[in-house]
Amino acid sequence: MGGDLLERPPYFEVSPTHKARTWLLDPRAPKVEPPNTSIAKALESNAKHAAVNTKKISDEKLVEVKDLVVQFGSNRKPFVAVKGVSFDIYKGETFGLVGESGSGKTTIGRAIIRINSAAKGEIRFKGERISGKISKELDHKITQEIQMIFQDPMASLNERAKVDYIVSEGLMNIHPEMSKAERDQRVAQALLDVGLLPEFASRFPHEFSGGQRQRIGIARSLIMEPEFIIADEPISALDVSIRAQVLNLLSAMQQQRGLTYLFISHDLSVMRFIADRIAVIHKGVIVELADTEELFAYPLHPYTRALLSAIPQPDPRSEKHKVLEVYDPAIHNYTVDKPRWVEIRPKHYITCNEHELAQYQEKLAREGAAE
Ligand SMILES: Nc1ncnc2c1ncn2[C@@H]1O[C@H](COP(=O)(O)OP(=O)(O)O)[C@@H](O)[C@H]1O
Ligand SMILES: [Mg+2]
Repeated sequence: MGGDLLERPPYFEVSPTHKARTWLLDPRAPKVEPPNTSIAKALESNAKHAAVNTKKISDEKLVEVKDLVVQFGSNRKPFVAVKGVSFDIYKGETFGLVGESGSGKTTIGRAIIRINSAAKGEIRFKGERISGKISKELDHKITQEIQMIFQDPMASLNERAKVDYIVSEGLMNIHPEMSKAERDQRVAQALLDVGLLPEFASRFPHEFSGGQRQRIGIARSLIMEPEFIIADEPISALDVSIRAQVLNLLSAMQQQRGLTYLFISHDLSVMRFIADRIAVIHKGVIVELADTEELFAYPLHPYTRALLSAIPQPDPRSEKHKVLEVYDPAIHNYTVDKPRWVEIRPKHYITCNEHELAQYQEKLAREGAAE
């Protein structure tokens, strides 16, 4: 089932001071963003949908990232932004990548779509290597099958182009033979799919709100009929009141089209509702990776725990008394006993050395976490 976006009637401006959610008004009435949709409430309804989820996650690996290193600057004095990360993304899942600003999340996304090159390691898509030198045919294929949605819908849309051009640009590149009539028809459908009016095609981006612009960005991706979408902080720049709508739209699209997402965010509370698995990244290193429920139930790495402790509590009393954990990387003594990537519980991975592994196992035993 879709999110509430598809099940509830759209908002209309009846008069400047009166807005109403109704199916009864003419569908051409100007649509407006509803006021103050509580993100928590909408996310909750999203979570309920997830409970009766029809979503199918297969055991087919769609994306494989192996020992990926990405660096910037000169070869003599490189800045290593991604320091050997490995993870797989299964077909149909939403794989969350969370970490503070500057930790390398966008760099990983851009490495997958081949904007950043891999200094070491490799990336595979449907079993084929897509990092390094690849054939023209494969490049053409992944240009269509992998799409990216960007953080800032204000900056990522070309101000001088009409919506029509923005949405169909990728399609024109991949299908130059397509007739204008067919392209127009696809643009109209793509706009409808994301909850916008086909008439918007002839307008310019500045005429739209942030939420509508992000929908245009989503339409631009969906029109390509991709299999895999990298959503890089897609709601971080939006008003709180419309974040849930865009999240629900992304979930609905995933269920209808069997899409696979790499969802990037600095916000663990958003991840909890959208991601099936979460990888926590700190300064270019993935420190922990587990199913979402598992990560929230048994967070082990001190950096994961620090991120969790920073999530605001809905209850003001517990918010007042909560203890903010601060992560100090100096607590790790990795000079002799080196860290490695360990599966500490089934499907729960952590970066730690032997000494820490023993401590984490003890902690799990104390908490009664049976295997
Ligand atoms: N093109 C670039 N040239 C130099 N440094 C870069 C470039 N892109 C990113 N970086 C650096 O790499 C690190 C990771 O950046 P980024 O992947 O954008 O982080 P995040 O998306 O997690 O906020 C940051 O220190 C950033 O300054
Ligand atoms: Mg980023």
